[in-house]
Amino acid sequence: MFSNRISNVPKSFIREILKVSADPSIISFAGGLPNGDLFPIENIKAATNKVFDIVGPSLLQYSNSEGYKGLREMIAKRYKSFYSLDIPADNILITNGSQQGLDLLGKIFLNEGDSVVMEEPGYLGAIQALGVYKADFLPVPVSADGMDVEKLKSVLAGNNPKLIYTVPNFQNPSGITYTNENRKEVADTLRGSGVYMIEDNPYAELRFSGTNKKSFMEFLPDHTILLGTVSKTIVPSFRLGWIVAPDEVMEKLLVAKQAADLHTNYFCQRIVDQFLSDYSLDDHIETIKALYLSKKNTMISAIKKNFPENVSFTDPEGGMFLWVTLPEGISSMKLFDKAIEKNVAFVPGDPFYTNKTDVNSFRLNYTNSDEETINTGIKRLAECIKEML
Ligand SMILES: Cc1ncc(COP(=O)(O)O)c(C=O)c1O
Repeated sequence: MFSNRISNVPKSFIREILKVSADPSIISFAGGLPNGDLFPIENIKAATNKVFDIVGPSLLQYSNSEGYKGLREMIAKRYKSFYSLDIPADNILITNGSQQGLDLLGKIFLNEGDSVVMEEPGYLGAIQALGVYKADFLPVPVSADGMDVEKLKSVLAGNNPKLIYTVPNFQNPSGITYTNENRKEVADTLRGSGVYMIEDNPYAELRFSGTNKKSFMEFLPDHTILLGTVSKTIVPSFRLGWIVAPDEVMEKLLVAKQAADLHTNYFCQRIVDQFLSDYSLDDHIETIKALYLSKKNTMISAIKKNFPENVSFTDPEGGMFLWVTLPEGISSMKLFDKAIEKNVAFVPGDPFYTNKTDVNSFRLNYTNSDEETINTGIKRLAECIKEML
């Protein structure tokens, strides 16, 4: 009955885990949820009332497929202030979250079996979205400084990928950030190959320390596609994201967007536009960063105090996740089963890999638990790890 397209694409492991961890007695470091205590509820309410007054009935009417021009101009302005990038509003397509951006890119670029270079470990939502189009993934490892350029070169030498997918800032899942030098080397390696770089960037503005890094758009302006979202800086429920793409790609994306859903929720676009006009996003982001930094520090201290010495972990300069690596041969999936018995959840590494199982690494989210819960959860996790060692 069902299409080849959907067969063998696994369910999102995270959604499954979120079901398990919805049980309030479970301490969950599994989700990737922004902290709801910081949602700007009063300001969103005020912005909503105001757009009703300003826009009138057309607020509830169909709209254009590209997205609301005022919002696209606002996003272009932000690229200018944050990255000094000149992005024309016409090259921005508003999407239903950046997740839809991934789906649309899969739809316009991929025939069955086309290859895609994928960070390893990589965002499982991208693996799933592009997996639906039967992408043949070519994994290239990332570590503290960014992508393994030698491996990228060898992958490019033997294959003909159409796309490369990266989350270069506070990567989901590992929390690592590519250095500027690494970005340049990756871009130099790609230049002239015709491969489009997808820079998925939901976390860059959530930087606690260090300096902002350059966008791939600076190095490969003709072949970079940016994905953005308000999910981590304003609210995720509006499902509001965007794609920045060159003209020839935008043309195809627009057709795919029309075919998929005509346009993104106009009401929410106008609310976000009003919110951004009336309030300081920078101030709001400062509040988010202060809270996330203190939670991250709590988790790092708890890990240092409780985890055995032969367990390593990343200490991200921003974002929402850190990545733990167990000694060789210890399965994070088996650790997960043990941890659930002690009422602690995390995401085992497996779903972030395209061709490996029983990996020895896993992802922890630190943005959603209070400090006491973080301490208790990490202590319990440490007990499970020690039992496995
Ligand atoms: C790297 C990455 N890309 C895309 C998404 C999806 O975000 P959105 O809510 O904009 O669809 C997420 C969400 O966690 C993410 O971490």
